[in-house]
Amino acid sequence: MSERFTIAIDGPAAAGKGSISRAVAAHYGFAHLDTGLLYRAVGAKVLLGMAPEEAALTLRAEDLEASELRSPEVAQAASRVAVLPAVRAALLDFQRSFARRAGGAVLDGRDIGTVICPEAEAKLFVTASAEVRAKRRHAELAAAGETSSLAQVHADVLERDARDSGRADAPLKPAADAVTLDTSAMTLEAAIAAAIEIIDARRGGSGGA
Ligand code: CDP
Repeated sequence: MSERFTIAIDGPAAAGKGSISRAVAAHYGFAHLDTGLLYRAVGAKVLLGMAPEEAALTLRAEDLEASELRSPEVAQAASRVAVLPAVRAALLDFQRSFARRAGGAVLDGRDIGTVICPEAEAKLFVTASAEVRAKRRHAELAAAGETSSLAQVHADVLERDARDSGRADAPLKPAADAVTLDTSAMTLEAAIAAAIEIIDARRGGSGGA
């Protein structure tokens, strides 16, 4: 299959982009890239003492598999390195070629529809209230054995949103042609169905690949 079709899924911290993106990619048979993992892997190396640009330039596939990448400390470190233009520049080509790979691609992050792939055929901005996002992330972290309180997770989400939206380079914001999906009152299944409906409309109603 040689179809080129890019689905860009952006949104604030813990909005459910990852779960929706994985399900959407499986539905269409597309490859999926969680671009947040790239920044998390760079942040994790910086926590170990490496300089941010060097960490970004030397990133390898196996760096994306470390289990600690999901921790709140690494999430904060990711958002701190993500303000640096040299870090973003080092990660750009990999993300762009992934987006245009043959067979279709789903990328989720903050700047996919605005900077990485402005020509993406379908763009979603997935959001939810900060309270709902904090509750979902708190439940996820608790299931993974993390002990952060709900109040800490809520503060972390708000801090990252402010840093991600306020930075000069590739700030978090919906692309002008993105469809916003507010999942505050939706189950995950309903959010996935809504995302597929939006994407099908962009695919001319052709449904799954
Ligand atoms: O899963 P969650 O939404 O909490 O975060 P993530 O998608 O794993 O992203 C972690 C951090 O990486 C974000 O807070 C952003 O600062 C940064 N990021 C970015 O700047 N650009 C992207 N395309 C993806 C993530």
